[in-house]
Amino acid sequence: MRMISKPLLAGGALAATATGLVWRQVREQRQTGEQSAPGNKFLRQYGPWALVTGAARAEGLGYSFARHLAGRGFNLALVDIAGDELAARAEELRAKYLIKVRPIVLDLGRDDFLDDLLPQTADITVGLLVCNHMWTPRDTPMIMEMDLDTHLAMLNVNARAYTALVHTYGREMVKRAQGGIVIVTSGAGLQATPYTGAYSANKAFQRTLGEALWYELQGSGVDILVTAPGLMSTQGDALAGYPQWMISDADPVAVETLDTLGHDGPVLIPGLINKAFMATQTRLLPRRMAVESVGRFMAAGLHKRQ
Ligand SMILES: NC(=O)c1ccc[n+]([C@@H]2O[C@H](COP(=O)([O-])OP(=O)(O)OC[C@H]3O[C@@H](n4cnc5c(N)ncnc54)[C@H](OP(=O)(O)O)[C@@H]3O)[C@@H](O)[C@H]2O)c1
Repeated sequence: MRMISKPLLAGGALAATATGLVWRQVREQRQTGEQSAPGNKFLRQYGPWALVTGAARAEGLGYSFARHLAGRGFNLALVDIAGDELAARAEELRAKYLIKVRPIVLDLGRDDFLDDLLPQTADITVGLLVCNHMWTPRDTPMIMEMDLDTHLAMLNVNARAYTALVHTYGREMVKRAQGGIVIVTSGAGLQATPYTGAYSANKAFQRTLGEALWYELQGSGVDILVTAPGLMSTQGDALAGYPQWMISDADPVAVETLDTLGHDGPVLIPGLINKAFMATQTRLLPRRMAVESVGRFMAAGLHKRQ
């Protein structure tokens, strides 16, 4: 029998292990459907780095975006206020995908958050920005019942930070004539939504910012998409009072959004049920009837007395 040298054996074993690891990863991505179209073209257009805000919670939409972008080969800068959870998500992504992950723990409600964020992204090209974070009190107080400080803090997180992120990273994209921005609003941003009125107004801000930007940046090489999910199963039992057939998982929302970027806009309403619901609310009903009907819907879902 021919003698095979030890270094050759070790090299062969290493290559076999590496091939096995890559194959396992490709197979896992196929199984979870995370290698969805349009694949590498998408990465060439919007890569090599994506910055996703609000990606710390395992069940959240931000982490779903992160997984699907990782599946398309993106390196990820993930920004969130929840440090421990963010570190855990970054570890999970590194373990499963052959990508770089940069967790950035930051309070996006701070006036000076860019001073901390910019140095941490100065050496990477953010080709895709996904503005997804949000903050609202869990008990969704009515507008007059919520104190003014909370209203102003919500504006900082949900309006001011969105403007700052879109302006800062968007300008760099315009200079390069290449990139994409996804703004995650909500059905509550497409119509006034009583019992969560402050959140609804914040979401309307995001929607109009993105919609106008979509028009202004046409032909610039930078694609804008505002995505408006309906109810999602990301908030634990907070949505237990709503009709459960209306509640979607985060994954189909993330996939439909990424697949739509650059192909349609300015606003995507993901999912058939959500499309039908929002068409009724925003196109068929007069505005007064729409706000009355969604007010009753919210009151029932939140068990509020009317
Ligand atoms: N869930 C739904 O039914 C639904 C429906 C329509 C639209 N949306 C939108 O979808 C997006 C994702 O929602 P989700 O349900 O997946 O929520 P989520 O998991 O709670 O995501 C929001 C993330 O943002 C973080 N965050 C809050 N304040 C922050 C701050 N000051 N700085 C940095 N990060 C901060 C949150 O951290 P903490 O958990 O520590 O606060 C959380 O990790 C949001 O824009 C939301 O408005 C959700």
